[in-house]
Amino acid sequence: MISAVYPGTFDPITYGHLDVIERAAQRLGHLIVLCTRNPSKQPLFDEAERVELIRASTAHLPSVDVDTFDGLLVDWCNARGVKVAVKGLRAVSDFEYELQMAQMNSHIGGVETLFMTTRPVYSFLSSSLVKEVARYGGDVSDLVPPPVDQRLAHTFG
Ligand code: PNS
Repeated sequence: MISAVYPGTFDPITYGHLDVIERAAQRLGHLIVLCTRNPSKQPLFDEAERVELIRASTAHLPSVDVDTFDGLLVDWCNARGVKVAVKGLRAVSDFEYELQMAQMNSHIGGVETLFMTTRPVYSFLSSSLVKEVARYGGDVSDLVPPPVDQRLAHTFG
């Protein structure tokens, strides 16, 4: 059984993330969803809210755990003996930045990245667009798990 980490900002978690989580956990055995910080993003939801939404959305997956960390991904991995990170790719445009991060994580920490393509039905989906649609009253109920839909409705009234 491989223990792998699926890191991200998850602001908030979407069905695109959940699809990767379900498929990766099924193949690898044990997946830890790591809610961490992307220095180039200012999240809408604080860390506790993002983690609560991840936990609620993955409660049906016994081989999935959730953790948080503020620091280098490779430090979290090496402290726990996790040698594999999973990343989802929606389109070729994701690849350039992800490739750079994968090579950096391999170089500085020996952590290898496995890429999983998202299902085409979710290839347009991003947390940023979900927030924008929800902010202006659009329906995102088929794009995010119910707890996230409810939180967005509460946040944007
Ligand atoms: O969901 P995101 O914002 O695309 O995820 C990016 C994330 C959080 C995985 C990335 O920014 C990250 O790994 N942050 C932790 C800090 C770190 O290790 N930075 C060096 C990356 S090579």
